Parts: sequence; structure tokens; C-alpha cells
Amino acid sequence: MTTEAAIVDLAALGEDFTRDPYPVYAELRARGPVHRVRMPEGPEAWLVVGHEAGRAALADPRLSKDWRNVSPELGIGRLAAGITMLSSDPPLHSRLRKLVAREFTMRRVEQLAPRVQQITDRLLDEMLPAGHADLVDALSFPLPIAVICELLGVPFLDQDAFRGWSNTALGAGDREQRRDAAVQMNEYLGRLLADKREQPGEDLMSALINTADEDGDRLGGEELLGMAWLLLVAGHETTVNLISNGVLALLSHPGELAALRADFSLMEGAVEEMLRYEGPLETPTYRFTVEPLEIGGTVIPGGGQLVLVALADADRDPTRFPDPERFDIRRDTRGHLAFGHGIHYCLGAPLARLEARIAIRSLLERCPELALDGHPAALTWRTGMLIRGPERLPVRW
Ligand code: HEM
Repeated sequence: MTTEAAIVDLAALGEDFTRDPYPVYAELRARGPVHRVRMPEGPEAWLVVGHEAGRAALADPRLSKDWRNVSPELGIGRLAAGITMLSSDPPLHSRLRKLVAREFTMRRVEQLAPRVQQITDRLLDEMLPAGHADLVDALSFPLPIAVICELLGVPFLDQDAFRGWSNTALGAGDREQRRDAAVQMNEYLGRLLADKREQPGEDLMSALINTADEDGDRLGGEELLGMAWLLLVAGHETTVNLISNGVLALLSHPGELAALRADFSLMEGAVEEMLRYEGPLETPTYRFTVEPLEIGGTVIPGGGQLVLVALADADRDPTRFPDPERFDIRRDTRGHLAFGHGIHYCLGAPLARLEARIAIRSLLERCPELALDGHPAALTWRTGMLIRGPERLPVRW
């Protein structure tokens, strides 16, 4: 068992690590499941690699998701306001998740399908005449944000402003601008919730305001605000990259693309393989130690240390997925960790799957000659260890 670990400086690897982190993770995995690292974002963290260790860490009740437990020395903080299930531990987590799960049901997601199709069709109508596009800008980004607006019940006329704030608040701009946009977003969401209280609609937020469980328990104001932020962040930053990474994988593997085009009943499996092969989250949200704990033979100190699980590595671990570097839309992808594992397993997984299936199928159907516009090596990837996806995805047809 070790307590003193040398630090692996991932920040020093620069662009190479951003472009292709997989070999670095694989090398770490060959040495053991837990490593002390400096993240490209700056702070130090403890990185868990491999499928088995990653899966166990995601569900480890000793790791907290409550930001009050973070060590102040790490100098990290949250921008989003409110109380959320993704930043809380049981019993608060269980209470919030139960109240939200009552309303965010499979039925509600299925009911959204025609709207998702309509929005996709509109975006493709706008995109197609040019013959070429940045797919991120034309489809991957605007679709999920429009779906979140539907869920939150953001009126059509406010959607442009809403998109602008959320873009800046969650984007890569400077800290000051992000903070200002986050403040405006908070104010907007506060007003939106007040309006929904007065005049409830058919949307999820109205349902959440009014929901109560058998004991009459309800979500409070800060909890509703937190949920609105969570939906925004979760849908804004993730589904975008499922669509982009998925299309990129298909266009880089013509045999798989041809198989899918020939038989769209393979779509469900193809989306699961897209999630496994290049999932939108390279690591999930932060976990914190409360007291010293041992994972895979390494003791991680207590006191609010950051623990990260390399989902990207877990899903390319050959002990779990044979020949993991092969993109194979017919493979058995069961057990992939792209949506996490344990009590924080993604609540939006059915919606993300629905959006990706509709968007990618419609794109392929309407663009029989779809191809990458440039070499994949020329793509610029999102920086940082959280999100995995290209900044832009030039395509032509
Ligand atoms: C492809 C798209 C998506 C991916 C890859 C994804 C992935 C994840 C992951 C890995 C977690 C667990 C995080 C952790 O344990 O630290 C999570 C949690 C969550 N996701 Fe997603 N997500 C996606 C889309 C969505 C969408 C569209 C929504 C809702 C509109 C959503 C809502 C949530 C919520 C509410 C949680 C917190 C659950 C909890 O704490 O109990 N996600 N997601």
C-alpha cells in the first residue's frame, strides 16, 4: 500500500493530451488504478483509471459530491447557483432525485420525440442548401439547447438571450464574463420559475414546482433553481458531443457507416458504441475525499482532495471491452460508463439517447454523401479533462 505518490503532470503534456488522451490513460492503467495528477485545468487530483476501479469509485459512498467538502487550497468553485442532486450526498441526494425522477419520466421523454424530430428537421433545412457546414454549430449544439428550453419552458422569444448567457457562462471565456453571464442566467431562471408558479405550463419545470411525494415533500426555491442549472449544464455540454463524436466516428469508419446506412435498426447499438468509444465526458463531475481512503492499494488523503474517474479509459479497458480501439457498432457495449454508475447515474440518459438517434439518423438520411471536410488530425478538441469533443466539425455533402 502506498501513501506517497509522485505527481503525474498532465498539464505538461499540452495539446497532445487534449487531442488524444487515450494512450496516456492506458499507460497509467498499466502501472495501476490510482494516480496523483496535475490536471490541465491546474488543480491537483487523484485519477482513477481502468474499468473495474472506475466503476467502483463512481459508486463509492466514501467519496462525497458536496462542494462544502472541497479543500479550499485547490482554489476551485462553482458558478451555478442552487442546490442540486449532482452536488449532494444522501440523504439530500436521495430526496432530490426521488422528487425529480417522479416527473422526469420515460413517458415525458417519449413525448418529446416529435419535438426533437421537428427541431432537427428545421436545423437540417437551414443547414442543407450550403453543401458544407460546421456540424457543431449547425446541429450538435443548437439541438440540445433547444430541447432544454422545451424542458424548462423557456418562451420562444427568450431563447436567443438564454442561449447567449448559457454559452458564455459555460464556455471558455474569461472568468469575469462567465460570472456576469451566470448572474444574468440566475436572474432569468429566478424570474422564469416565478412565472411558472403563477402560470404553470406543460413543461418539466412547471411539473417540478408542483410535484409532491406521498409525504407532501416538495422542492424548495434553491432546489428548483439548482435543477434548472443542472438540466442546462447536463444537456448543454454533453449531448452536443455525443452527436459530434458519434458522427465523427462514423465518418472515420466507412464500413460501420455503410452498415448503419444499410440497416437503421442498428442505430440503438451504434449510439451505445459511440458513447463507449468516445463518450462526451472524459471524466465525470468532481468527487471529494472526506477522510483518508484506500483505492486499489493507494491511500488518498482526506480533507477534500479531488478524485476523478477516467470514464474515457474505463470504456477502452481491454479487460472489459476486447479490442477496445475498434469502433464496432455491433459489439456488446453493456457496462459502459459513459453515463456514470451508482446513485448519480445520468438521469437524462434516455433523453440524450433519443436526441442522438434522431439527429444522427436524420442527418444520414438527408445527406447520403456526407463526408468530413478536412483531415480528422486537423480538428481542435475541447480543452480540459471534463468534456471530450471537437470544437468544430467541418462536414460537406
Ligand atoms: C450524452 C449525453 C450525456 C452524458 C454522456 C451524460 C453523462 C452523465 C454522467 C457521467 C453523470 C454522472 C456524473 C457523476 O457521477 O459525477 C450524469 C449525471 C446526470 N445527468 Fe447526464 N449525461 C448526458 C445527458 C444528460 C441530459 C440530456 C440530461 C437532462 C436533460 C442529464 C441529466 C443528468 C442529471 C440530472 C444527472 C445527475 C444525477 C444524480 O446526481 O443523481 N444528462 N450524466
